Amino acid sequence: MSIPYLHASSYQRRMESGRTRPCLFMCEDENSELYDYYVVKLKAGIDSRETGLASELIASQLAMFLDIPTPEPAIIRVDPAITEVIGDTELATKITESAGLNFGSKFITGGFKTWPIGEAIPLSLKQLACEIFAFDALIQNPDRKADKPNILWKGEDLYIIDHETGFSFVYALPSTDKPWQLTHLDFLKKHLFYQNLKGQKVNLDRFTGALEALSTQKMDSMVLNIPDEWKNANVSKIDEHINEVRNNLNEFIDEVRRVLQ
Ligand SMILES: Nc1ncnc2c1ncn2[C@@H]1O[C@H](COP(=O)(O)OP(=O)(O)O)[C@@H](O)[C@H]1O
Ligand SMILES: [Mg+2]
Repeated sequence: MSIPYLHASSYQRRMESGRTRPCLFMCEDENSELYDYYVVKLKAGIDSRETGLASELIASQLAMFLDIPTPEPAIIRVDPAITEVIGDTELATKITESAGLNFGSKFITGGFKTWPIGEAIPLSLKQLACEIFAFDALIQNPDRKADKPNILWKGEDLYIIDHETGFSFVYALPSTDKPWQLTHLDFLKKHLFYQNLKGQKVNLDRFTGALEALSTQKMDSMVLNIPDEWKNANVSKIDEHINEVRNNLNEFIDEVRRVLQ
C-alpha cells in the first residue's frame, strides 16, 4: 500500500478532545488532484516525537492489513507559513515547531462519536472487539481505556485511532526476549474491552489467519513507508517485535486467550 504525501493547505480547527489535541487541515497533493480533510498529529505535540509518528503510521498500516477499521493514513507536510491566519499563539508555535512531516488520518465524518464511557459491547461488534483487544496486545498499546477509548463509533461501525503510544515496549527496560508473552502486561487489564470480554468465549480465528498472512516482506514494505526523517532505532525494534510475534503466532494467540480467561 502506498501512503499519500500531502501538504496542509488550510487550517480548519483544533480537535476538542485528546491529549495532544490534533488539528484538522485541508490537505492536498502537489497538483491538487488529491485533497481531503485530515486530522493531523503534530510532531511538536507528541512527547516521543518521530517515534510517535512512526508508531501511528506502522499501527495504521498493520490495522488495515489485518482488516481492523482505521482511518486512512497520510504523511502531511506542514509549512509554518500556515500559522499566519492562526490567532492562538501557543498553537501557532506548536505548528511552527512541527515544520516538516507529520501524521494525518482521514477525517471521519457522518455522525461518528467517541465510544461512550461504560458502553457495553453490542453483540454485532463483539468479534471486532476481541480482535481490537488482540491487536492492542500485538502492538502493546496501553492507550485504549474506558476514559480514553480512542475509538470512533456509530451503530455497527467503528474506527480505531491514536496509536502514538503503541509499541510501548520500545521504552521498556529491560526489554523482553519473548515479545509474544503478555501476562505481565498490566495495561491489558485496563483495556477498554477487557471487562466485557473476560471469561467469555473469544473467537480469534479470523485475526489469527490475517496475522499469519503477514510476511516479512509485507512488514518490510510497511517500514519502508516510514519517512526517513522519522526513522530511528525504535522503528527497527518495532519491526523485530512484529516479526517475532508473527513467528510465534500460536503462542501469542494462546497468551491473548490466557489474559482474557
Ligand atoms: N481521523 C479522525 N477523524 C475524526 N476524528 C478524529 C480523527 N482522529 C482523531 N480524531 C478526534 O480527535 C481526538 C484526538 O485525536 P487522537 O488521535 O486521539 O489524539 P491524542 O493523542 O491527542 O489523544 C480524538 O479523540 C477524536 O475525537
Ligand atoms: Mg487520543
